[in-house]
Amino acid sequence: MTTRRETNLGILSAAAAAMSPGPAAAQELRPIELPVPRADFGRSLAQALKLRRSTREFAARPLPPQVLSELLWSAYGVNRPATADRTAPSWRHARETDIFAAMADGVWRYDPIAHRLLPQLAADVRAQTGAQDFVGGAPLDLVYVSNAEHLSGVPREEQHRVAAADTGFIGQNVYLYCASEGLACVFRASLDQERLARTLKLAEAQFITFAQTVGYPKA
Ligand SMILES: Cc1cc2nc3c(=O)[nH]c(=O)nc-3n(C[C@H](O)[C@H](O)[C@H](O)COP(=O)(O)O)c2cc1C
Repeated sequence: MTTRRETNLGILSAAAAAMSPGPAAAQELRPIELPVPRADFGRSLAQALKLRRSTREFAARPLPPQVLSELLWSAYGVNRPATADRTAPSWRHARETDIFAAMADGVWRYDPIAHRLLPQLAADVRAQTGAQDFVGGAPLDLVYVSNAEHLSGVPREEQHRVAAADTGFIGQNVYLYCASEGLACVFRASLDQERLARTLKLAEAQFITFAQTVGYPKA
């Protein structure tokens, strides 16, 4: 069970992280305020489960802000505002995962509390988010980043197991959102994590677990 103090600390640390300016290379980018997700959207859960699949052919067409908003909210947004709890569970409420969104004009980090995107890097690094050809041409590559500082109670050799499980829940939320909205997506392990971590200028405690490409299906 989470104490009030833990909840407050979670909100404060998220707020502090949200205010940090990020790497210098991001200064030419502006935060993106995401539209409010609609109260109701998408197909039924049963329909989404029937349609869920991995797709590896994407149209180049960018995702509209409303779609980006609802995708990120579904992935790991705040679904209980009183406690800032999320649409996906995490080990002992650690909430150690950050979602980075790599798009044509740069990379942003999703801030679930303010429901906005914070600049991380002013460069198109989509092609570096995976080893497969389609990743550079799809409009959005999500990169899942865990922070070991939030997993301090987990033995070091166990941290990746916990982070992988927590990330998997987020990935399935993305799969179901995509299925429910007619989008294409694929969860991916195939990427050079070390190189991408350097490119994204991640902190020492941060490590990449997986990525997930999202876009409209190729006609
Ligand atoms: C942990 C994990 C890692 C995966 N890594 C990749 C990957 O690197 N590249 C890829 O194209 N698909 C990847 N996939 C997608 C699987 O290949 C896919 O889920 C599987 O073929 C079943 O297809 P379906 O998702 O359409 O049911 C991964 C899936 C999981 C769960």
